[in-house]
Amino acid sequence: MNRYGLTKTAKDYRPLVHITPPSNWCNDPNGMVYVNGEYHFFYQYYPYAPNWGPMHWGHCVSRDLLHWKELPTGIYPDELGVIFSGSCVFDKENFSGFGTKENPPMVAVFTSHLMKDGLEQQSIAYSVDYEHFEKYYGNPVIPNPGQNDFRDPKAFWNPVKECYSLVLAAGDHVEFYASKDLKNWEKTGEFKAGVNGLDGICECPDCFPVQTEDGEKWVLIISMIVPEEKIGMDYYTRMTHVTQYYVGEFDGDKFIDTEKNAAPLMIDFGTDNYAAVTFQNLEEKVLVGWADNWAYANYSPTAECGFRGKMTLARKMKLVKTQKGYRLAFSNEGLELLRKNSCSLKEGKNRLRTSTFGLKVEVEGEGSIVFKNSVGDEIVITVTEDEYVVDRTKAGQKEFNEFYAKECYGINRAPRLKKESNMEIVFDKCILEVLADDGLAPITACVFPNHPYEEIVVSGDLDVKFFNIY
Ligand code: FRU
Repeated sequence: MNRYGLTKTAKDYRPLVHITPPSNWCNDPNGMVYVNGEYHFFYQYYPYAPNWGPMHWGHCVSRDLLHWKELPTGIYPDELGVIFSGSCVFDKENFSGFGTKENPPMVAVFTSHLMKDGLEQQSIAYSVDYEHFEKYYGNPVIPNPGQNDFRDPKAFWNPVKECYSLVLAAGDHVEFYASKDLKNWEKTGEFKAGVNGLDGICECPDCFPVQTEDGEKWVLIISMIVPEEKIGMDYYTRMTHVTQYYVGEFDGDKFIDTEKNAAPLMIDFGTDNYAAVTFQNLEEKVLVGWADNWAYANYSPTAECGFRGKMTLARKMKLVKTQKGYRLAFSNEGLELLRKNSCSLKEGKNRLRTSTFGLKVEVEGEGSIVFKNSVGDEIVITVTEDEYVVDRTKAGQKEFNEFYAKECYGINRAPRLKKESNMEIVFDKCILEVLADDGLAPITACVFPNHPYEEIVVSGDLDVKFFNIY
């Protein structure tokens, strides 16, 4: 037994190219910002045990979105509380005055959460070396107005008013605030979740513009805690936590959902993509989510490998017009070179010699792809006439938690809109990401095989190419 509690029989669940904490616990992505050729990534971090606890911001950086270098813990708890989720901006014009125009500050906007009574207020901290943070003496910058669940500020540039804005979660709705200097904030509007979409308690919103064939639209993402009495009532509430989005406009004060939809829009159709938000200061819209689910994350067997919690790969987003209206389409960022070196898999059995790889699939009809090992574990990915289905009910360990073992968490389904399309599958030790239907149908699911998968079995009208990821 080593200092992380690792035993000799520990399985190898630590992903190679997906972000994990150096040890112990992580949840939500925080403060994602692109500065001087580097992607800075912060995350909800509890450095002292492999379970949720008093939150810090962990910090890592990458130049290619696949290989991450751990930096010292970014932000520590203080007398206002522990450090809940939030965002960073690269304040190029030095509106905040925390740096200079020559050396602009990175400014973090986060929630101070008081553990003793749950009071939540918004605070800021800044860094001029993009590694060490100084908290602002005037915190909190947005005191609590008497609202429960008042958290997770996501700051963004407001092109209408030419100032900063932020969107934060406030119980059953989100609120918008504006500021010239990131220190003084004024409330400008609200958006209620659930009128056209799912209701519940909001968390981790994000709001950003995207280009479409008809010009600019805005997307509002909200992660939702589904009300207890509604859990399991329908397809969208089969889980306790889901991430939805809305499409519309931003008028400078608030978001308006101009595109109404019959059903909620989902950021992911799998169980394991929550609190997903985008990078700031990047022309393209690139999203990363926490690849876990609150229903079982605190129990997942990766603790035997010294960590709990992992992120999705970075996904570039486009807003495309489909026969059902506007939908986000996702593609993995950072795999461009690796994808070029691919080889075809044959119909039937193919030997698998690695636990981190990608598959490029041309979908022409129906079929399936199965990962198997010699101890009887299998993940089954099926393409039917109208659905993509990822069945992880026999994928490996599942007894560690009653939710994980349930069929509604085990069988993940996404609608198929296209007859012919591309699908990309990435597997990395304990996380499976399927971007089907040209990226319109993402399914992320974590799995804990008892032994590495050793075979890929292909059948049906699928043309599958394999590539290595390292
Ligand atoms: C979402 C969340 C946030 C909060 C953070 C605490 O997963 O509950 O609302 O800021 O996690 O770790």
